[in-house]
Amino acid sequence: MTQDQKKRQAAEAAVDFIRHARIVGVGTGSTANYFIDALAGIRHQIDGVVPSSEATAARLRGHGLEILDLNEVGPLDVYVDGADEANRHRQLIKGGGGALTREKIVAAASRQFICIMDESKLVEKLGLFPLPIEVIPMARSLVGRELVKLGGQPEYRTGFVTDNGNWMLDVYHLDMTDVVGLEQAVNQIPGVVTNGLFARRPADILLIGSRGGVQQL
Ligand code: 5RP
Repeated sequence: MTQDQKKRQAAEAAVDFIRHARIVGVGTGSTANYFIDALAGIRHQIDGVVPSSEATAARLRGHGLEILDLNEVGPLDVYVDGADEANRHRQLIKGGGGALTREKIVAAASRQFICIMDESKLVEKLGLFPLPIEVIPMARSLVGRELVKLGGQPEYRTGFVTDNGNWMLDVYHLDMTDVVGLEQAVNQIPGVVTNGLFARRPADILLIGSRGGVQQL
């Protein structure tokens, strides 16, 4: 079974968890794309969707799903998205696709966050995947120096501009013993828009595609 098949398996399983939902927040990435394709099959049962990126909005629109503005709707019933890494506390690293800020916003606006992924992303301790951080362009060097003080090794994601017009740093070797503290400390650096740790607001459910079927955490 390939990694993509496991991603698809988890994404399709998520549809069973959202049958109660009227408004669905939708994440970004290849796993989220499988979810979007599956969501199209039940589009007549939902009122609309709130996308976490321009790419996701385009794919949702292509399937005939109604795109809603987050400012025009109340709390969302559910948010479904992938991740780059997850631990058994359902805390995540996200942002490999660079959509972390809108993902964090939509997750925060949702009553339930279902994370879908293949089994290779479940780890004992977060941090093998570099931490993505969205930064205001003029603050890139300042933020980089502050991250070095925190023990990290930041790399500029060359040529990448986020949907919000900002830049990305990917940071290696940060100490992830206290992920809630680290998430807060990084967000305190002036110029950081947000970072890809979803520790203060972890996923509520992890659906993990694996050779033995979909596991739920
Ligand atoms: C995008 C994300 C994605 O959820 C994460 O990168 C996982 O991507 P994929 O499903 O393609 O493996 O956080 O910003």
